[in-house]
Amino acid sequence: MKKIAILTSGGDAPGMNAAIRAVVRTALANGLEVMGVQRGYAGLINGELFNMNRTSVSDIIQRGGTILRTARCAEFKQEEVRKKAVKILQAYGVDALVVIGGDGSFTGAKLLSKLGVKTVGLPGTIDNDLAYTDYTIGFDTALNTVLDAINKIRDTSTSHERVSIVEVMGRHCGDLALYAGLAGGAEAIVVPEKDFDKNELCRTILEGKANGKMHNLVLLAEGIGGAFELAKEVEDVTGIETRATILGHIQRGGSPSAYDRVLASKMGAKAVEVLMEGKTSRVIGIRNNEIIDDDIDEALAIERKFDEKLYDIAEVLSK
Ligand code: ADP
Ligand code: F6P
Repeated sequence: MKKIAILTSGGDAPGMNAAIRAVVRTALANGLEVMGVQRGYAGLINGELFNMNRTSVSDIIQRGGTILRTARCAEFKQEEVRKKAVKILQAYGVDALVVIGGDGSFTGAKLLSKLGVKTVGLPGTIDNDLAYTDYTIGFDTALNTVLDAINKIRDTSTSHERVSIVEVMGRHCGDLALYAGLAGGAEAIVVPEKDFDKNELCRTILEGKANGKMHNLVLLAEGIGGAFELAKEVEDVTGIETRATILGHIQRGGSPSAYDRVLASKMGAKAVEVLMEGKTSRVIGIRNNEIIDDDIDEALAIERKFDEKLYDIAEVLSK
C-alpha cells in the first residue's frame, strides 16, 4: 500500500479535523502518500482530490467542522455511481480510503469495499448512534455544548419558575438527551427509545412543583414531536408557564473537547495501522476504553442498545 485517501461525509462533528490530522500524519510518518477528498462522496465522484502533507493539517486540531467539507450525496446509493468512484480512485493511484462519518457514510464505504476498494471507517457523528462503539467522535463536545445551554436555560427557568423544554439532536438516538439530561439534572428526559406519555410528563412536573422545585427542565430528543407544541400542551395541563428551546445546529459546531481530540487522534492512528496490516472493510471504535477495529458488515448489523441503567439513574436522581 502506497497511497491512501480520506474524506468526511454526512453531518459534520467536532473532532473530525483532529481525526483527519491523525490519519494524515500517521500515514506520512509511515511513508504513505495521502490525498484529501473534498465534500465526501459527492466530491469523490467529481474527482475533487488533492495531495496532503503535514502542513495541510496544521492548526486544525482545535477547530470544529471539517476542513475537507462534507456533503450528503444521494446518488452514491446507485452502484453505477459507486463504480465511477472506484475508477476515480484508481486514476489517482489510491490504494485505500478512510471514511469519517456516521452509519450512512459507513454503508457507502461498505458498498465501495464490495467493489474492491480497501476501506476503513472512523465514527464521526454527534449522535452516538453506532452500536459497535461506546462513543463516536463529536458526541462529547456536543454533549458539553448542550450542557452549557441547559445550565443557562435553567437560570432563567428558575427565576421565572417555568417549565423549560429543550429539544436536542440525535436523529433516532436518545443519547444526547439522556447524557445531557443526567449531567444537567433535568426533571424529565424524553427519548425515542422509551414510550412517551404526555400525562406522565405533566404529572412529573406537577409533583416537582408540589415538592418545591423552582424549575422543570425537560430534555426532549428530536423527532418525538414538536417542542413548541409540547410546551403548549404542558402549559395547558399544568397551568405552569412553559417555554421551548430548540438547540439546533449549535450542537454540531465548536472547538472539540479534550476527550474528542484524544479519541479522534487515537482512532485516526489506528485506522492507518489497520490498513498497514493489510486489513480492509474495517471500522474503528472504542469499547471499554480500548480502541478496537471491527468488520464493517458486522459492526453495522449490531443493534443499538439503549442504556436503560443510565436512564433509571437519571430518573431516580431527578425526583
Ligand atoms: P451519516 O454518515 O452521518 O449517517 P447520512 O446518513 O446522511 O449521514 O449518509 C451520508 C452519505 O453516505 C449519504 O449522503 C450517501 O452519500 C452515503 N450513503 C448513505 N446511505 C447509503 C447507502 N445505503 N448506500 C450508499 N451510500 C450511502
Ligand atoms: O447526524 C447528525 C445530525 O445533526 C442529526 O442529529 C440531525 O438529525 C441531522 O444531522 C441534521 O441534519 P442537517 O444538518 O442536514 O439538518
